Amino acid sequence: MKIELKNLKKTYKGGKTALKDISLMLASPSLIGLVGPNGAGKSTLMKLLTANFLPGSGEIRIDGLPLTQQEHLLKASLGYLPQEFGLFEDLTVTQFLDYMAALKGIERKVVKDEINRVITLTHLQDKRKAKIRTLSGGQKQRVGIAQALLGEPKLLIFDEPTVGLDPAERVAFRNLFAEAAKNKLIILSTHIIEDVQSACDHLIVLSRGEICYIGTPDALIEQKSSPSLEAAYMALMEGRDNA
Ligand SMILES: Nc1ncnc2c1ncn2[C@@H]1O[C@H](COP(=O)(O)OP(=O)(O)OP(=O)(O)O)[C@@H](O)[C@H]1O
Ligand SMILES: [Mg+2]
Repeated sequence: MKIELKNLKKTYKGGKTALKDISLMLASPSLIGLVGPNGAGKSTLMKLLTANFLPGSGEIRIDGLPLTQQEHLLKASLGYLPQEFGLFEDLTVTQFLDYMAALKGIERKVVKDEINRVITLTHLQDKRKAKIRTLSGGQKQRVGIAQALLGEPKLLIFDEPTVGLDPAERVAFRNLFAEAAKNKLIILSTHIIEDVQSACDHLIVLSRGEICYIGTPDALIEQKSSPSLEAAYMALMEGRDNA
């Protein structure tokens, strides 16, 4: 799968320009880390990629065709974890995943196995029959990740997937994303730079609606002559703010 963004611009009602002029090419297999301060435009970019809304100007092409003509492909190939999502609190974990599988059009005969697969991947085995309202914040986040993984989508978009996860689960998910990225395109946003440090092929740093860095994490470290990615990222953002 190949996604091209050309001169993308998004201005919200009320006049806030969240993305200024974004041009990018993303191709599978890869894991792309999207980082940047609050309000940088990360979620807006992800919502545009998932056809949540249309850009003000510019275009998105998927495998060479405009996104508007590829909605069926997107629906069949996309797993999306929004930053804020509502779960059906009165459903059990299994019931919720069954409902999401139906929405995604997953064949009934494979649904049970598929639900078991994503429950195992997200370590929710002992919560299958628990009502969502009884889960902790981190467990709910894992249900959100589980629903995105249903049907083995070729394109995974995770908006801050590791928020609320304890250190052990965070490491487990880093490994899961790295493994899944071997044959998929994964775009994930995070504020925890270690989430993307080891596994991501490309780091995109957004600031005030513009791309201020795109490249490997290692190249950013070299460019900023910093010993760690965190320090290089901070140096980049400081330079940006003083500009
Ligand atoms: N629905 C909306 N209406 C108006 N302005 C919005 C809306 N959603 C986002 N914005 C504005 O657009 C800008 C980018 O927001 P966005 O949510 O994309 O940032 P972000 O990088 O995801 O931030 P965070 O790290 O806090 O999640 C911000 O200035 C925000 O105030
Ligand atoms: Mg966001």
